[in-house]
Amino acid sequence: MAFESKYVWLEGNFVPYEKATIHFMTSSLHYGTGIFEGIRSYATAHGPAVFRLKDHIKRMYRSADILGLSQLPYTEEEVYDAILKLIEMNELEECYIRPLIYIKEGGWNLSVDNTTVEISVAVWKWTNYLGDEALNRGVRANISSFPRHHPNITMTKGKIAGNYVNSVLAKTESVRAGYDEAIMLDPNGNVSECTGENLFVVRDNVILTPPRNSVLEGITRQSIITLAEDLGYRVTEEILTRDQLYIADEVFVTGTAAEVIALREIDRRKIGSGSMGPVCATLQKAYSDAIHGRSVIHDDWLDYVYTAIEQNV
Ligand SMILES: Cc1ncc(COP(=O)(O)O)c(C=O)c1O
Repeated sequence: MAFESKYVWLEGNFVPYEKATIHFMTSSLHYGTGIFEGIRSYATAHGPAVFRLKDHIKRMYRSADILGLSQLPYTEEEVYDAILKLIEMNELEECYIRPLIYIKEGGWNLSVDNTTVEISVAVWKWTNYLGDEALNRGVRANISSFPRHHPNITMTKGKIAGNYVNSVLAKTESVRAGYDEAIMLDPNGNVSECTGENLFVVRDNVILTPPRNSVLEGITRQSIITLAEDLGYRVTEEILTRDQLYIADEVFVTGTAAEVIALREIDRRKIGSGSMGPVCATLQKAYSDAIHGRSVIHDDWLDYVYTAIEQNV
């Protein structure tokens, strides 16, 4: 199976992959009250390193706050240590890391109070999320008929499992229509984000991205803003409309799974030259350097698995 590994960190213990099961009567499975993160580890000259691990764990704990979970069974540091150890035990150079918080007991009355919460983590070897050609060629997207969540219906800052039904509806619709990805508009009709990525527009060498109100605060988004500013680009957060996408010089998306990918076509309209533009290419390279430990100034974004474990011993 594509997700298979040797061990899973299950509720505080490292267990063989095939023993990593949870019970059918886990209410999070029924009501979507899981909380997850998507994190990646990359090969570097100093062995595997996890990109912005502490920031991802912090966002996961803040997602738990958003859902109202009060007592998590492990500290952020304990989850951090478990993830590094799990990568080492699975002997993976490059992998995807999926922690999940879930309600193990209780939650049947649709309240998160008086529940027992657990956390588990799986890691597995990763393949390109938007296909092998996406990095070089870019992908094709459409505007989804499904709007992004209203922030007061489900919280857009939380990576809460149930929120992702919105992404699943949009992505399924797009792929069935022959596209690679869906762009969702917010409830006011402005551009929000894609199903698993944040979105950027380039116009006259200025980089624009929708404000944070209706989007997930992507860690890649933040990294790209920093890298772009390092390179001297002006980056602004501003409300963007659908037609601003059509007339952009470039549109690209960012996310842990996808990384930095150009949208070469939107709604059957060619964007810019119809292939990856120069700003996207520059940022894609800067990001690749950062995740693979080739950037001196952003080396603090990486947690080197073996160094971190040795320091903790
Ligand atoms: C809806 C949504 N937007 C944006 C992102 C990008 O976030 P990140 O860069 O932290 O992976 C993701 C991925 O987790 C996502 O699911």
